[in-house]
Amino acid sequence: MRVDVGAGPTMGPVSAEPAAAGVSGEANVTAVDVAARAQSDVASERSGTTRPDAPAVPPSPALEVRGLTKRYRRGDRPALDNVWLDVEDGEILTLVGESGSGKTTLLRLVAGLEQADAGEIVLRGRTVCDERTFVPPEHRGASLVFQDYALFPHLTVEGNVGFGLRRLGRAEREERVREMLELVGLRGLERRYPHELSGGQQQRVALARALAPRPAILLLDEPFSNLDRALKARLRQEVAALIRATGTTAVFVVHDPDDALAIGDRIAVLRDGRLVQLGKPREILDSPCGPYVAGFFGIGEPADELEL
Ligand SMILES: Nc1ncnc2c1ncn2[C@@H]1O[C@H](COP(=O)(O)OP(=O)(O)O)[C@@H](O)[C@H]1O
Ligand SMILES: [Mg+2]
Repeated sequence: MRVDVGAGPTMGPVSAEPAAAGVSGEANVTAVDVAARAQSDVASERSGTTRPDAPAVPPSPALEVRGLTKRYRRGDRPALDNVWLDVEDGEILTLVGESGSGKTTLLRLVAGLEQADAGEIVLRGRTVCDERTFVPPEHRGASLVFQDYALFPHLTVEGNVGFGLRRLGRAEREERVREMLELVGLRGLERRYPHELSGGQQQRVALARALAPRPAILLLDEPFSNLDRALKARLRQEVAALIRATGTTAVFVVHDPDDALAIGDRIAVLRDGRLVQLGKPREILDSPCGPYVAGFFGIGEPADELEL
């Protein structure tokens, strides 16, 4: 399947802001590896439920977060405080809130890069975190895309996209890389190195790399934070279309309410580590749960402030 992301002007440069120390490198290396390794776990679990004589069971959500709580230091206010949410298979959930509201913490907990103090995380029906369980990141099937992309500078486009596919046979890996590059509109650039690409192209490589192992869930942490408004508006639609084209379930962290409304099938609003509202864009616009959410989304301001 091809989505023409090449239409219109080229996606412009993105100035890469250094991510928090130790976060992006570690997470991105894990991201690609992780999804590759967990791909077989997920596939075997899925196929395990498809016996012809098996009773029909309703599909479980792709992700269930139940009462998740995280404190970085004893005695601190929790960075995440008793958060409950589900993400359906194939759904894009945008996670939005002010800086420090706990968005990155939630993504890192789902990926297995942090341990929770309380609560459970269930990925495709499998408990990956509860008081007795901690499935390591490489067995969870989560792929991460961070705002600075963290491509491997010494690897070509092809090498980056194929990085998480090392367990596949050569022919299968090459086919999958081709398919991904076709999807993101980067065929012909296979031999380029990251420094030979524009910021927008680097972002597409990061997305192709994250999608290549067919992750159980794609986690994106503010991938548009350095773009100007016009560019971001176009890019966010393109990225959302690519995620949908592959049927990937995604949790997409953004801090801009317009991005949350434009991208998400549903939106989760975090405030000081608590989930204050979860709903479809229209539900949030029509019935914000209180003055904080109304203010955050500019509800009551002129309509053209809210581009849906
Ligand atoms: N590694 C860490 N150690 C201590 N406190 C942290 C750490 N990471 C985040 N925090 C704190 O946890 C809270 C939530 O942070 P974070 O999840 O990064 O929020 P967001 O991504 O929404 O900006 C903030 O108060 C932040 O200072
Ligand atoms: Mg963050």
